[in-house]
Amino acid sequence: MAPKHFLQFQDFSRDELDYLFERTRWIKERFKRYELYQPLRDRTLAMVFEKASTRTRVSFEAGMNQLGGIAINLNRGDTQLSRGEPIEDLARVISRMVDVVMIRTFEQAIIERFAAHSRVPVINGLTNEYHPCQILADIYTYVEHRGSIAGRTVAWIGDSNNVCRTWLQAATLLGFSVHVSTPPGYEIRPATGTRDASHFRFFADPHAACHGADLVTTDVWTSMGFEAENEERKRDFARWRVDAEMLRHAKPDAVFMHCLPAHRGEEVAAEVIDGPQSVVWDEAENRLHAQKALLEYLVCGRVKA
Ligand code: CP
Repeated sequence: MAPKHFLQFQDFSRDELDYLFERTRWIKERFKRYELYQPLRDRTLAMVFEKASTRTRVSFEAGMNQLGGIAINLNRGDTQLSRGEPIEDLARVISRMVDVVMIRTFEQAIIERFAAHSRVPVINGLTNEYHPCQILADIYTYVEHRGSIAGRTVAWIGDSNNVCRTWLQAATLLGFSVHVSTPPGYEIRPATGTRDASHFRFFADPHAACHGADLVTTDVWTSMGFEAENEERKRDFARWRVDAEMLRHAKPDAVFMHCLPAHRGEEVAAEVIDGPQSVVWDEAENRLHAQKALLEYLVCGRVKA
């Protein structure tokens, strides 16, 4: 039987996502009580990084260890990928040796090619197009703070990047709306991010996008791989900084999220990210718990609590 992968958010059904959020809660509660839970004893995760990472690396490695397994870290420069080994051959080889693989790479096509030749589940740890593990943790964080996200409104301010596109997939699956505001020339192309446009509205004005929002979120103006555009983007995005004045357009109990790393004074003001509506540290921590639920599901299937 072909393994189940998590290459983009819409690879999972709403029922599977609800199950994962419930497992995340259960796993996090046990972790907070210092109770051992090791369903992945003798199991191995291989992590392939073609781009830098802090949160993804630590949360997957710590999470795998806490579940009783081990994680092997493979940075591109230390592997034969850097000397031209085809990604398909890497998939064929390491999927005979480990139980699950997490990859952070460039184009989505690379991880799709890997998965097509893998005997074991493959997890997207960020591609140019999507960041599904991030949105798993973000939505869990929203649920933890405010309850169900169904029917709510998320305001995405700034670059229409991989995280934004993943929010759009999640909105379709889980029944909430995303207001997107980007500078001219950086607009999202709905066809690449959504199966339908009914949960998506574009706003030229970022304040208007925040109006009535339950959650306001942003990301760096320059994603990994686009560094050459940094100075031009700083000029183009200057009006898309989330500051206290912008956040006031959202609902009074709106939360602020940022997947991190953040650049205070660029895409977000310190008064917002370090302010009372910010849940970014819970959001970062929940990468650990949500990915432990994901690893358990992909390796063991559904388990009874
Ligand atoms: N948000 C996120 O994926 O962080 P890292 O790039 O540090 O892994």
